[in-house]
Amino acid sequence: MKLGVNIDHVATIREARGGIEPDPVSAALLCEMAGCDSIVCHLREDRRHIQDADLFRIKKSVKIRLNLEMSAAREIVAIARRLRPDQATLVPEKRRELTTEGGLDVVALKKKIRGVVEVLESAGIETSLFIDPEKSQIDASFRTGARIIELHTGGYSNAKGVSAARSRLNALKAAVRYARSLGLVANAGHGLNYENASAVARISEINELNIGHSIISRAVFVGLGGAVKEMLALIKW
Ligand code: PXP
Repeated sequence: MKLGVNIDHVATIREARGGIEPDPVSAALLCEMAGCDSIVCHLREDRRHIQDADLFRIKKSVKIRLNLEMSAAREIVAIARRLRPDQATLVPEKRRELTTEGGLDVVALKKKIRGVVEVLESAGIETSLFIDPEKSQIDASFRTGARIIELHTGGYSNAKGVSAARSRLNALKAAVRYARSLGLVANAGHGLNYENASAVARISEINELNIGHSIISRAVFVGLGGAVKEMLALIKW
């Protein structure tokens, strides 16, 4: 199981004072040294955390994969084409949300998404779609030409009680199996933490888990390298 570490919230702390620290580039390098497989950053349209220049500096500094989370907005697509990250993950974006709330509705937006996937893939950027673990969304994603999906684990991580969590986990497993049967690479993420991630990591057909908030929060107490290593110990089988 691979681990992608989302470092957006290092930039959130920096933006709280509008200064230069903590630097997301240093964070990316520490995560890389601790053994994670990719660095994930979300360039939001409102630039509330990661800024354009951060991305270009991270791309230049790290050797592991850079996965850019992004909306399908024209301005952001143009930046992605200049940056050329290893991977782009298309996510829905609403101005007032605290974090990405639901998966991308590829069923409703398939024409637009297909166009953006084509543009990104033709720039040599592997494209992933962040979707809810539903068959209709997986089918629609497959039809856009994207070959990677990231299944939203928010339903599982926010589930109240053991039986609700179990049923969300089973739905996730079924979605992963279905995606794999179509030949899609299946990643997963959102809301995963030191308590709930290992059950998801046991779904062996998942390629990578993308985790941000819990790792950056843990880093406040044990340092970023330690927080990444602790998560790796939980999810690497
Ligand atoms: N995957 C995607 C597509 C996301 O948008 C986010 C949040 O930026 C994450 C994973 C990480 O979520 P969390 O910060 O809850 O671990």
